Amino acid sequence: MVVIIIILVSIFAFSVANPPLQIPSNSQSYSHKLPNWSEKIISPEDLLPPSLKPLHYEIKLQPILYPEGGPNEWSAPGSVEITALGVSEINKIVIHRHPDLKINQTSITLSDEFHNSIKVESVEEGSDSHKYGIVLGSNLIIGRKYVLSLKFVADINDGSTGLGLYRAFYTDQNGDVKRLATTQFMEYGARKVFPCLDEPSFKSTFAIYLARRTEDKNYITLTNSILKINGSGVEEY
Ligand SMILES: *[C@@H]1O[C@H](CO)[C@@H](O)[C@H](O)[C@H]1NC(C)=O
Ligand SMILES: *[C@@H]1O[C@H](CO)[C@@H](O)[C@H](O)[C@H]1NC(C)=O
Ligand SMILES: *[C@@H]1O[C@H](CO)[C@@H](O)[C@H](O)[C@H]1NC(C)=O
Repeated sequence: MVVIIIILVSIFAFSVANPPLQIPSNSQSYSHKLPNWSEKIISPEDLLPPSLKPLHYEIKLQPILYPEGGPNEWSAPGSVEITALGVSEINKIVIHRHPDLKINQTSITLSDEFHNSIKVESVEEGSDSHKYGIVLGSNLIIGRKYVLSLKFVADINDGSTGLGLYRAFYTDQNGDVKRLATTQFMEYGARKVFPCLDEPSFKSTFAIYLARRTEDKNYITLTNSILKINGSGVEEY
């Protein structure tokens, strides 16, 4: 059983710094690494070829911090639905995803605003590239609204790059080491957590649904955005 909360986020692409993480008040020590800011990551030749301009993301994520007998600990299965406008008459959509983010290829669907589904022919994924191509059976239409949806499994990484969703620890008053998962999406961390069009020109709104266990009453979620729904659900990945 998990609890689902939804956070509605409106940010300027992914280029906005998160404020420092607040940690539970009973914690005594805490460690995490900061990203290497001197890495230059966006050059014009790295930009995505124009296909879709995202308007809104619906992201569902279930970070798994401890072994549960189900999906692997330190993984975060999820799904994303990207509502976007066609900006190019082309039969390929290229999005960002880090090679550590595993996309379920058979889950990829694209439909237009008239609920017609557009066939996904194949995907193009380089194991050393952040780009992921989705080849369509027909061309996109400029100005038409589309919904691209897919499932994936993100890695809660060891924090060595300080990017994406990564592991952190603190020691409580009893001396027990507790786990947490923290995010750093700036500058190119978001694509490690969910597939996206990760460029400063693609400003969009985001609704993030976060699932966490209800058996462990002291699980908490901290965010710098507005909590919209504090509901319950039984969505399983
Ligand atoms: C940060 O990145 C730069 C450029 O890639 C590299 O020269 C430097 O060694 C890195 N620093 C650390 C601490 O990894
Ligand atoms: C991949 O997605 C398909 C379609 O949604 C689903 O039936 C299948 O179980 C998924 N595979 C995995 C490994 O999650
Ligand atoms: C969300 O619901 C839980 C369980 O009902 C409650 O303990 C918690 O205070 C709620 N949080 C907010 C921000 O409303």
